[in-house]
Amino acid sequence: MQQRRIGNQTVSAIGLGAMPLSTKTDRPSREDAVATVHAALDAGVTLIDTADAYAADESEFGHNESLVAEALASYGGDTSSVLVATKGGHTRRGADWELDGSPAYLRRACEDSLRRLGVDAIGLYQFHRPDPDTPWEESMAGLRQLVDDGLVRLAGISNADIAQIDVARSIVGPALASVQNQFSPGWRFSADELAHCEAHELAFIPWSPFGGVSAAGSLQSTAPAFAEVAGELGVSVYRVTLAWHLAQSEVVVPIPGASRPASIQDSAAAADLQLTPEQLARLDAV
Ligand SMILES: NC(=O)c1ccc[n+]([C@@H]2O[C@H](COP(=O)([O-])OP(=O)(O)OC[C@H]3O[C@@H](n4cnc5c(N)ncnc54)[C@H](OP(=O)(O)O)[C@@H]3O)[C@@H](O)[C@H]2O)c1
Repeated sequence: MQQRRIGNQTVSAIGLGAMPLSTKTDRPSREDAVATVHAALDAGVTLIDTADAYAADESEFGHNESLVAEALASYGGDTSSVLVATKGGHTRRGADWELDGSPAYLRRACEDSLRRLGVDAIGLYQFHRPDPDTPWEESMAGLRQLVDDGLVRLAGISNADIAQIDVARSIVGPALASVQNQFSPGWRFSADELAHCEAHELAFIPWSPFGGVSAAGSLQSTAPAFAEVAGELGVSVYRVTLAWHLAQSEVVVPIPGASRPASIQDSAAAADLQLTPEQLARLDAV
């Protein structure tokens, strides 16, 4: 598998987005969910994206992190090079998603994530989303403190604009390794943030790289050129989409979601798919 970098850590060019294992309405059984993570590891995936808030609702907060921890612990092979990237800052009230970006909350959330993941320090801890009730500078100071106190090795931010990325760079400092924003063939509004990440050597992690869980439909309708190239190459439209993501920049590390082994097996193979300049031009023109 092709490798990329997040901060000082080498990771597989294709990661696993673990969210659907917990939030999909028809989510898999625990056994099947663990099998999906194992399939990712078998395929050479060494980046797993999770979050404390990935759960059906408030009552099972931490569901996804516990699942990832269980899957890593029960895997037969070596998991020492796997980067688990989690997030804090989203809360749940019932099934609703809410926010708390205060440093005191982030500290508690991070300590809970450490416990669920069973580690001394979190590989990549991402501030999930700006909280309008907490100044961004305060949230970033809270994130920096987690690094300084050794709870977190690398820090990331998510759903951030260019101004927020720059404030994060100045407050969090060299531990700031990544920006995770929504980006897909049908949602390219973070193209400027991606370019900014490239300029400042930050990894750019596109979330919902296909456009979300109802991805198949949206991929076909928003970007038929992707299906066209997939047909020419005899591979899935998902694989072509991920190869397009990888071609945007060396700093891009997509985290396709999967709730079935077959999905992540197919997606992981995108790291070996080389699109021609002509094909890329057609996909970029969409
Ligand atoms: N930072 C944030 O605010 C934020 C927000 C949303 C998501 N995320 C992260 O981004 C990750 C990815 O986003 P997402 O899960 O929302 O959407 P996505 O990756 O765009 O789409 C996921 C869906 O695509 C299907 N799929 C993936 N690869 C496939 C393949 N090769 N063949 C057929 N089907 C395939 C999966 O189906 P099956 O379920 O059938 O396997 C899955 O449910 C999440 O898991 C999460 O870690 C972050």
